[in-house]
Amino acid sequence: MGTNEFPRGFTFGVATAAYQVEGHIENDWSEWERQGKCKDPNHRCGRSVDHWNRFDHDVQLAKEVGSGAFRISLEWARIEPVRGQVDAAAVDQYRQRLLRMKAAGIRPVVTLHHFTHPQWFHRETPWHEPSSVVEFRRYARICAQILRGLDALVITFNEPMVLLLGGYIQGVIPPGIADGNKAMLALGNIARSHVAAREELLRESGKCEIGISQNMLAFRPDRWWHPLDRALTRLAFDNYNHAFHRALTDGELRIQMPGLASTRQRIEGGRDSVDFMGINYYTRAHLRFVPKPPFLEFQYRDIHGRGLTDIGWEDYSEGFSHLLVELHHKYGKPIWVTENGIDDRQGQRRPQFLYNHWSQMLSAVRQGADVRGYLYWSLMDNFEWLEGWGPRFGLYAVDFETLERRPTPACHYFRRVAQSGVLVEPEQVSEPMKSEDSMPTVAPSTVAL
Ligand code: BGC
Repeated sequence: MGTNEFPRGFTFGVATAAYQVEGHIENDWSEWERQGKCKDPNHRCGRSVDHWNRFDHDVQLAKEVGSGAFRISLEWARIEPVRGQVDAAAVDQYRQRLLRMKAAGIRPVVTLHHFTHPQWFHRETPWHEPSSVVEFRRYARICAQILRGLDALVITFNEPMVLLLGGYIQGVIPPGIADGNKAMLALGNIARSHVAAREELLRESGKCEIGISQNMLAFRPDRWWHPLDRALTRLAFDNYNHAFHRALTDGELRIQMPGLASTRQRIEGGRDSVDFMGINYYTRAHLRFVPKPPFLEFQYRDIHGRGLTDIGWEDYSEGFSHLLVELHHKYGKPIWVTENGIDDRQGQRRPQFLYNHWSQMLSAVRQGADVRGYLYWSLMDNFEWLEGWGPRFGLYAVDFETLERRPTPACHYFRRVAQSGVLVEPEQVSEPMKSEDSMPTVAPSTVAL
């Protein structure tokens, strides 16, 4: 393997999440928006980018950029809109779609839980109650049937720490709770739900690989000389990046954030309950101690003068290789990059961003990390949670009025590297990407649930 070659069998692909793209989903987030709780209180996900009706077309777009894998999520609120009542048509739709994706030569990567819940969930069986595990197991059993025989890469939970911080500590996303004790109970139950889902998947789905996607940040003390900033940085690495991974590898959930939250819980069946380590990597945060709760502040700083990304995050590819190598040393398992991407509203920075991150990923591979795949976030622009319709992470830009998808300049670069498995610099790739007009046309599915 040359220094700029990806390992044999390495998979490039793209990632999405149901609520952000499908459209017309009624769940806890649609309620949240209606209550005006997004940054812009007028933003609604609504029809989103209508992926539900353009699924086959979007699969073709993924193929066009050389994807060997496509990450989608199943929407619990579609599958079980009323507690205990399964919508058979929705289940069948997901199954048929994934079969078609597979037939198109793309490996399904399927997330069971990507931040959203049916509206009954927080009222009836919230995460801090043990009943949540029972409910999630039942949902996972249905998902396992959808995934039967597909040899999917399955992600039970996307970014549990983000859900926890936003939803249970800061209370800024659903369910909007700000209670450290409930947060710790919730995190334990999420870990148990992963174990329960794994049991269902192993029983029902046949061959599949199971893991989670963990948002991992590069952290740095804001004042390198300040002992408390340094202590916070160590705590953040350990608690934010690794506590949940550890719960699913050694079977104990340990959180120790003085003044914020702490817990020590055994997770029955948690030991060695993932087949791969999933990492979502975006940026680095600078941490500073402040003498009042929550005792820390974080900021994104443009240390290298590259310019923050449009969402205001540091463009810091160097942190990527460190985290990958660290994952390798700590857990010794295969690694999947389940998200990495940039909000680049003009679409000009993305090729260089990809090059920088892929270089760092190759550097980690040379240092021994067994990285199996890279999924770009996202295939196309979509609804960005609290930020609504501002950010544009897509390889394809979406006109939010007409819903037309147009390739950004990164598309042909992505395809070139994905198809050849050889990293070249963006300037070395000049072939223009076909415009959407010449893309394979696939009639949107007319199925409406
Ligand atoms: C989430 C995505 C989100 C992306 C960009 C990740 O944390 O999994 O849903 O769109 O970051 O903010």
